This record gives sequence, structure tokens and C-alpha cells, in this order.
Amino acid sequence: MVTAIIVGAGHRALTYASYAKLHPDKLKIVGVADPNKIRREAAAKEYGLTPEQCFDSAEELAAKGKIADAIINGTMDRQHVPTTLPLLKAGYDVLLEKPFALNEEEAKELYAAAQKYNRKIMICHVLRYAPFYSEIKKLIVEGEIGKIINIQTAEHVSYHHVASCFIRGKWHRKDTCGSSALMAKCCHDLDLLTWFMSGVEPSKVVSFGGLHYFCRKNAPENSGEYCLLDCPIEKECLYSTRKHHLDHPTRWSPYVWAGIEHIDQPTLEQKEEFLKNKDNPYSKCAWKLDNTVVDRQSVLIEFADGVTATHNMVCGTSRPMRKIHIIGSLGEIHGIMDDSKFTVRHIDLRPGHEYTETEIDLNIQGDTTGAFGGHGGGDLRLAADFVSLLEGNHPSLSCTTLEDSINGHLIGFSADKSMEENRIVELN
Ligand SMILES: NC(=O)c1ccc[n+]([C@@H]2O[C@H](COP(=O)([O-])OP(=O)(O)OC[C@H]3O[C@@H](n4cnc5c(N)ncnc54)[C@H](O)[C@@H]3O)[C@@H](O)[C@H]2O)c1
Repeated sequence: MVTAIIVGAGHRALTYASYAKLHPDKLKIVGVADPNKIRREAAAKEYGLTPEQCFDSAEELAAKGKIADAIINGTMDRQHVPTTLPLLKAGYDVLLEKPFALNEEEAKELYAAAQKYNRKIMICHVLRYAPFYSEIKKLIVEGEIGKIINIQTAEHVSYHHVASCFIRGKWHRKDTCGSSALMAKCCHDLDLLTWFMSGVEPSKVVSFGGLHYFCRKNAPENSGEYCLLDCPIEKECLYSTRKHHLDHPTRWSPYVWAGIEHIDQPTLEQKEEFLKNKDNPYSKCAWKLDNTVVDRQSVLIEFADGVTATHNMVCGTSRPMRKIHIIGSLGEIHGIMDDSKFTVRHIDLRPGHEYTETEIDLNIQGDTTGAFGGHGGGDLRLAADFVSLLEGNHPSLSCTTLEDSINGHLIGFSADKSMEENRIVELN
């Protein structure tokens, strides 16, 4: 049995930790570290922890030396490296949330520490475990579409997702959160590109993007500053906080209601009161906040073997969606993750034919999206694989070790640099 300590008892770390509830013979949670007393005590109650097993911070925990096999680090982006370094030194293997670093320097520092202390770090690239992507990866490895020529991916960040996380939410500014929107939202997609490229290095990156829609100049005519306090057009507005959060109280709830976590089961009235609080960004007009992260960004990558790839992040779409199209020398694969099915196509030279087409429907096979946790089924599969890695098993095809995750992050850092400095960035 693997023993682990939760560091940062937010909803992400608790999601992975919940694997211990499903498989108590495989994983046991033996501690929690979080400066937030409410969260620390809630996690302690959930996992039956004694006061001696509870710590105010990762740093305090690290100072105790090694008292478990591993750490589940679900702190926010800025804390990933500073909290992980002392824990590596103390002797822990770490399951670490993404983006695992804020920039190239931090990434190198983390990698050097993992090498120095000979510790394993696995990054929470949960999409590698979603059946949609893991089945595509298997087909690529088996040579189904031959040698890859081009990969196109896109993430459509829906209107409610962008508003809750990147306009009103905690990822709305790089100077406070530490990550750009591309890194916070799409480091998964950039990781998938490098994963499908099976170790071929990215060589050049160029990117365009910006914040052009969710800014004051585009606010609807006659709109107020606060949806529920002074807005005459709130009833018709697509970004009304009432419609996003009171009419859909469970959407993005860990983020939206974090400020009233101290209330056990808040009523709708208490939630409405919270959305009227002027200090709460969720009270404000979506076009009149201080958000600075982009609402669109396109990335073009060239790999060392000449393969080209693109990723498009677009915010404010009606439907949330991740799309992929991989073109190989023998065929192509394309699909929408959220549909949990993809199509495999091959050249067909028979007279009267042009191509053959097979649909792989993971819903029919009983592996429905989200059937095993969030992220298309990725979350708990990733936790299971972390436990398996620590048990000494051979890393799985999806296994996302730090070494293996660096190229995707380097593409993201380079894309942001390219966009900000208006130039092609060469990686070496
Ligand atoms: N893998 C994914 O698909 C995915 C999805 C969403 C979010 N994320 C990432 O997961 C991470 C966590 O997100 P969240 O919303 O759960 O965060 P959160 O803010 O809810 O939780 C972070 C917790 O860390 C605690 N903390 C702060 N400093 C600490 C310290 N020094 N020691 C111990 N604990 C400390 C905070 O008090 C807080 O409770 C973020 O980096 C986010 O980008 C990943």
C-alpha cells in the first residue's frame, strides 16, 4: 500500500486523493498540509487524520522529514515549485499539478532537484488518461496512420468557463496567478502534441493572440458595473452572474463559491448575497474587470523532424470542446473529445472509392466520458497510475513523468514569448 500526504487541500488534490476511498488497499492518505484551516480540517475529517498528521504548510511538513511515500501537491500554480523543492529534499515522490512551473527557469530548477534527490515527479496531465486520447495514442504507436505529418488541436473554452476562471476567476491575471491563459488552460493540449510526437523535440514556435473581447470597450450598451446591483440589462446579458451562477449553482462551484466555503451548504439566498458583494469579482460585469489574460491564442510549432502542429485556444464559445486532427502518411484520425468518439481514415484506391472510414465510439464500448471521474475519465486513472508507478511497476503508455512533460511546457513558455515579443522562438 502506498501512503500519501495531501499538500494544498483544494478540489484538485482532493479529487486524486479520493482514489484512496475507492481503493483503500492501494492508497492511504496519512496527512494533510494547508494553511487554510477550514480545508485542513475538512480533509482531516474525510481521511480520519489526527492533529499530528495535519500541517500548516508544505514547508512545515517537509521540516518533519519523510513520514509517507508520496505527496499529492494540489497547490496553485505559483506554489508548485516552491512547495515541491523542500518535499523532494525530504525524500518524497510527488504527484504535481500542472502547470508544474511558471517559466523555463523554474522548470529546470525542479528537474535538477528531482535528479539530485533521485525522486519521481508525475505531472497531472489527466487528458493522457482519458480513453479518447489514450486510444488515439495506441493507434499511433501501432502505426495505424503511418508517420505523422501534421497535428491540429483546438480547445474551445466556453462562455461560462472563461467567465468563471479567466475573467472573474483566479486565473484572470498572470501577475497574480503566475500562469498565462495558454499555460493554465492548454498546457494539456501542448503536452498531448509532444506525447503523440513520442520524444521528437519541438524546434520552433510562433504564436499570436490577445485580449480583445472581454474588455471595457466591448461592454454592452447601458450595462452597469455589478450584475445584481446596478445593471439595467442584466436580464438579457449572456454573462449575467445570476444566470451563470445562481441558475447553475454547481457550475465551477469550487472556484465561484470558494469565498463562502465557511458556510456549510449555503442557501441560494446566501449565494445571491455573495454575488452582490462588491469585493467579490463574481459580482462584477464581465467586461469591466481587471483581467489581463488573452481570450484567444493560436500556436504554430515545428518539430525537429519537420512535423508541423497547431493549437488554437478560443474563449467564449457556446459549446466547450477539445478537437484533434492528426494526419499521417498512411491515414488520419480526427475527433472531438467531448463526444468520446473519433474517426480513423485511410486511403482507398479501389475504383469508385476515395477513402475508408471507421468510427471508434468509446461511448458504445462502455467507456463513457467522465464515467471514471472528470476530464474525460482521466482524473482517477491518473491517480491509479501514480500509485502503480510507486509500486514499482513499469510506467504506462500515458505516464506523465516530469522529464516527459517538459517539452509541452517549453512550447507554452515559448508561445507566450513569441506572442509578447512578436517573433519566432527557437528551442534547443
Ligand atoms: N489537471 C487539471 O486538469 C487541472 C484542472 C484544474 C486545475 N488544475 C490546477 O490544479 C491546481 C490547484 O487548483 P485548485 O483550484 O484545486 O486550487 P485551490 O486554490 O483550490 O487549492 C490550493 C490550496 O493550496 C493551499 N496552499 C497554499 N499555499 C500552501 C502551502 N505553502 N502549503 C500547503 N498548501 C498550500 C491553499 O490554501 C489552497 O487550499 C492549480 O495549479 C490549477 O491550475 C489542474
